[in-house]
Amino acid sequence: MLEPRRILEIGTFMGYSALCLAEGLTDDGKLITLDMNEETNRTAKSFWEKSDYKEKIEAHLGDALKIIRTLDETFDLIFIDADKPNYANYYDAVFPKIRTGGVIVADNVLRGGRVLDVAANADEDTIALHRFNEKIEADERVSNILLSVRDGLMIVRKEKD
Ligand SMILES: C[S@@+](CC[C@H](N)C(=O)[O-])C[C@H]1O[C@@H](n2cnc3c(N)ncnc32)[C@H](O)[C@@H]1O
Repeated sequence: MLEPRRILEIGTFMGYSALCLAEGLTDDGKLITLDMNEETNRTAKSFWEKSDYKEKIEAHLGDALKIIRTLDETFDLIFIDADKPNYANYYDAVFPKIRTGGVIVADNVLRGGRVLDVAANADEDTIALHRFNEKIEADERVSNILLSVRDGLMIVRKEKD
């Protein structure tokens, strides 16, 4: 729907979602994906090499928050799928780098339903995701919908700076 030219993915793992995202890129598009795990990054690259998208995927290895600060790009689509306690930090760090009308998608925001009862599920990830969901809901610069399939996808459209 977006026909993105620039996608940022935070959390590469084995490279599966990178391939799914790359499918939607424009012909001259590029996906930048971030992860700190060298071993899984090697596996991801070995899969991309066998795909039609190997020229379009650029992997950066290291701490995602540090790398985001160095990226001089404007993104059409951003997928957040790394460590849950940092979701709100990733959101704040990428917000200036996504164009108006661009979309941020965050995975696992229902955390298996635990966010519905944070008092009974007060682990670090659940608390962080609950706070992240509340932060998005309160953000007047965006419109959003929480897609309640599987583990929950928060879809956020930037309306203004
Ligand atoms: C859920 S997996 C990503 C799955 C992938 N998006 C997919 O669907 O195929 C989360 C990844 O985030 C990475 N990660 C966790 N904390 C990170 C950090 N601070 N900086 C960069 N990557 C991180 C982990 O190494 C892991 O590979």
